[in-house]
Amino acid sequence: MKYTSGVLGSSPRGRTLKKIIYLRGSWFESKRADSMQTVVITGISRGIGKALAEKFLREGYAVMGTSSTGISGIKNAHLTVFQLDLSNSKSIEMCTKEISSRGKKIDILINNAGVWSNNENDSALRVELLRKVMEVNLFGTVDFTEHIIPLMNEGGHLLTITSRAGSFSHVHAATYPDYKISKAALNMAVRIWTFRLKGKIIVSAVHPGWVKTDMGGPQADIEPQEAAEDIFKLATSRPETGQFWFKGEKFPW
Ligand SMILES: NC(=O)c1ccc[n+]([C@@H]2O[C@H](COP(=O)([O-])OP(=O)(O)OC[C@H]3O[C@@H](n4cnc5c(N)ncnc54)[C@H](OP(=O)(O)O)[C@@H]3O)[C@@H](O)[C@H]2O)c1
Repeated sequence: MKYTSGVLGSSPRGRTLKKIIYLRGSWFESKRADSMQTVVITGISRGIGKALAEKFLREGYAVMGTSSTGISGIKNAHLTVFQLDLSNSKSIEMCTKEISSRGKKIDILINNAGVWSNNENDSALRVELLRKVMEVNLFGTVDFTEHIIPLMNEGGHLLTITSRAGSFSHVHAATYPDYKISKAALNMAVRIWTFRLKGKIIVSAVHPGWVKTDMGGPQADIEPQEAAEDIFKLATSRPETGQFWFKGEKFPW
């Protein structure tokens, strides 16, 4: 709400009124922030994660996002950005400590951040590449999630963006082996969380589609915003726990 000095004037009474209006405004704002649902999303600097952060903010959620630099291109009073490198356990510890220090219970965690090695044509399993990809997509994502689970509300939703590239029934070629192995292993982590968190937190895996991002490339099928719409619907619904989803339908593991 904006009041010009012409309306209230610059008299002592006008100044006091302006102060009261300002204080009431910030009191209502802080009450609103307290009552907002909170979502944590990893990797909001670009691609699907950025589109997801923008969608959740538009829908009135408080968003805690992460990026490698600790900054994002999104300007919004209800967004907090934390620095996170999933390949570094110290960074995971510091980031989750920071998130915890905000004292907010988390309603939804979206594990979005991920990498691939671009190892398209060389189907040989090169351990140094596999290790790099596993460090982020599996070990880092599992470590981050284990730190966030105790901060989550009962009835919350733990949603992990894996990929159909990690589905045993979908994969019929030897391309991108390190990425496929990492996403298959992450799918199993989702199953393990499902059993452990039964009755407390809904657990889901989701394939976002082939998406036009740095990872998906310009030839991909859909824009990040379209993928974000689907994932938002899933994240904010109460689906059957322990399932792998694609476009609102169950996908085979
Ligand atoms: N695009 C597709 O077609 C497709 C298909 C299936 C599944 N997926 C999955 O969807 C998710 C998002 O993919 P995208 O296409 O949006 O990818 P992207 O455009 O390449 O963005 C990847 C995100 O992950 C973050 N990230 C990368 N390395 C990280 C690290 N070491 N620590 C923390 N964050 C890190 C990046 O943050 P910084 O920029 O700050 O480094 C970035 O925000 C991934 O899990 C991917 O495997 C994508």
